[in-house]
Amino acid sequence: MINITIINGPNLNLLGKREPGVYGNESFDDFLVQLKQAFPQVNFTYFQSNVEGELVNAIQQYGFNQDGMILNPAAYTHTSVAIGDAIASIQTPVIEVHISNVHAREDFRKISHVSAKAVGSIVGLGLRGYHLATAWFVDQAASQS
Ligand code: DQA
Repeated sequence: MINITIINGPNLNLLGKREPGVYGNESFDDFLVQLKQAFPQVNFTYFQSNVEGELVNAIQQYGFNQDGMILNPAAYTHTSVAIGDAIASIQTPVIEVHISNVHAREDFRKISHVSAKAVGSIVGLGLRGYHLATAWFVDQAASQS
């Protein structure tokens, strides 16, 4: 099994209800069911918090025992030195995902404390970004075995 942790930051618990014009109509729980079906070879761990320190704790907790981490720190992407430092401190490779195209929105969303420490970033492709990030980790695991 390939072990992948998905970590979502603040307000992403409201996906489906929150600004559907920006973030879509689907809840993350519904999406996760489909993602698990699409990747039966992956053991997914999912964590969401609205609290910055809890996200740092989760990054540390899953940062040494997973094959990949898919991280959407939401608004903390743009403000949190602590989350950037946490990513730099761990061994698990991180893919940064944003549902919306942060580069096409307000200027403050163009700053990321995550991007430079991540393997790569996927932005603006909706929830499909989590799918594509998973596929990349699955490909990596196959090429390493
Ligand atoms: C987001 C983009 C952030 O700027 C915003 O604060 C979010 C969600 C996204 O997935 O598009 O909460 O990370």
